[in-house]
Amino acid sequence: MTSKPSVFVSRVIPDAGLSLLRENFDVTVWPHDRPPTRQELTACCQGKDALVCLLTEKVDAELLAAAPAVKIVANVAVGFDNLDVAAGTRAGVVMSNTPGVLDETTADLAFALLMASARRVVEADRLVRTGTWAGWGIMQYLGHDIHHATLGIVGLGRIGKAVARRAAGFAMNVLYADAAPAGEDVEKELRARFVPLKDLLRESDFVSLHVPLMEQTHHLIDASALKLMKKSAHLINTSRGPVVDEKALVDALNSGTIAGAGLDVYENEPMISSELLALPNVVLLPHIASASHATRGKMSEVAARNVIAFFNGGPLPTPLNPEAFKVRSAVS
Ligand code: GLV
Repeated sequence: MTSKPSVFVSRVIPDAGLSLLRENFDVTVWPHDRPPTRQELTACCQGKDALVCLLTEKVDAELLAAAPAVKIVANVAVGFDNLDVAAGTRAGVVMSNTPGVLDETTADLAFALLMASARRVVEADRLVRTGTWAGWGIMQYLGHDIHHATLGIVGLGRIGKAVARRAAGFAMNVLYADAAPAGEDVEKELRARFVPLKDLLRESDFVSLHVPLMEQTHHLIDASALKLMKKSAHLINTSRGPVVDEKALVDALNSGTIAGAGLDVYENEPMISSELLALPNVVLLPHIASASHATRGKMSEVAARNVIAFFNGGPLPTPLNPEAFKVRSAVS
């Protein structure tokens, strides 16, 4: 009897995916509620045929070289800036992510942040909890209207579109900026208007970021971008922390360059600067945009199905570098 391929899973993931993996493979799961260190990850991948990892694990040429038995890396996330896909391709290591199953859940949270920031929900909650609320006041906790406001979506991909659909319920005027216009049908359906990023920043009451982290999007929102925004505007980030220059954002929130922000992601997770933590006009969440029971279950299942498809000879449901298959067959 040939032995089953071996898989290292870098955290306990939802059962939907884990049980599929266990049915098909010899599975080892990192048992701790913290990411493995680089050294631990390298050690755990020794002799393993596959790695199922989270966005907290950096998978680069060095790791792949140190764990040469690994043939597929399945990221349990849609964002894959933690993976060096080019290094994977060079080494003939197939990589996958989990697109398509978390769009609505992430859009829900982007909207939750937008609403919380606009209407100062967290600040007001704090007042009530501290027992210092002295009663109804006509000047208390004045925020900004969401209905009929202008929403600027930066990156009209799957998640950006899901955010635009929610905006219709609030009769918002929707602008979007992207590398190219989405096409007439999409614009008509979403009632969204394509504009250059600078115009979007100038005209929007809410700016919501939905771009992947790449060289071109690193610090896309920097001090000069923030200066273009309205003083009454709010910035919402559920994409990746480094898309925003966090230091410039702190300055903008401190100086009143913009009114508020809702953040789910940070430049150096899980570290958050003390300056950001001290600001009242920012809502801070611990990178939970896709964290619903159902969605995290689906994400883990997609990752497992990619690994299963790989060992069945492919093709993968959601590959990042299908060309790595060719590299594999050329070297093996
Ligand atoms: C979460 O941030 C993801 O990329 O899935």
